[in-house]
Amino acid sequence: MSKSDKFWDSKAEAYAKSKISDEDTYQRKLAETQAFFTPDMRIVEFGCGTGATAVQHAPHVQHIDAVDVSEKMLEIGRKRAAEANVDNISFTQGTLAEFNAEAGSVDAVLGLNVIHLVPNRHEVIAEVARILKPGGIFVSSTGCLGNSYLRFIKLLVPLGKFLGIMPDVFIMTESELAQEIRNAGFTIETQWHHGSKGIGVFIIARRT
Ligand SMILES: C[S@@+](CC[C@H](N)C(=O)[O-])C[C@H]1O[C@@H](n2cnc3c(N)ncnc32)[C@H](O)[C@@H]1O
Repeated sequence: MSKSDKFWDSKAEAYAKSKISDEDTYQRKLAETQAFFTPDMRIVEFGCGTGATAVQHAPHVQHIDAVDVSEKMLEIGRKRAAEANVDNISFTQGTLAEFNAEAGSVDAVLGLNVIHLVPNRHEVIAEVARILKPGGIFVSSTGCLGNSYLRFIKLLVPLGKFLGIMPDVFIMTESELAQEIRNAGFTIETQWHHGSKGIGVFIIARRT
């Protein structure tokens, strides 16, 4: 288990109990995502956490593979799905690369509040492109701190990680992220930002 898995395992219970900070924005993201779904779709959500969003999307698609590095997050996700009588989500531990879906086999991939946490986001975005069918959808909701004073959080990350109170955080701007997604073979269908200084960036992109 990496240090990052341990961090998220230790946060799982509290994360499951935390309230959505901006309900209107969350509902807008759900609705805009579901507008791309059809009942026959098979989707993958990486960094699914405790499965709260997967449970919301499950009635709109055929199947969701919910993937996360933290087994504790997944345990809560399995319980949450069972309590909601949702039986079309499979929870699997690992990164998206470890999940290793077949090339061109997936209708949509979701990465929500996770891309800024991975050290290798170019590889992750390339993996999203690899597993999507042509015309498939990538939904990304990501903290982009590059143009905010919050980018200096980077200086605190090594100490925060050492103390076990912070995960790895990687800094990018909204335009860098959008360009990296385009460079990986996508056209962007929807892009908007929200929150303090616009650091929350929501993108829906289509695999060309
Ligand atoms: C901030 S939480 C977001 C959870 C959920 N997507 C949401 O929006 O509420 C980040 C999640 O990503 C997971 N994670 C971190 N790095 C990951 C990686 N490289 N691959 C898969 N999951 C990862 C963590 O275990 C954690 O559950």
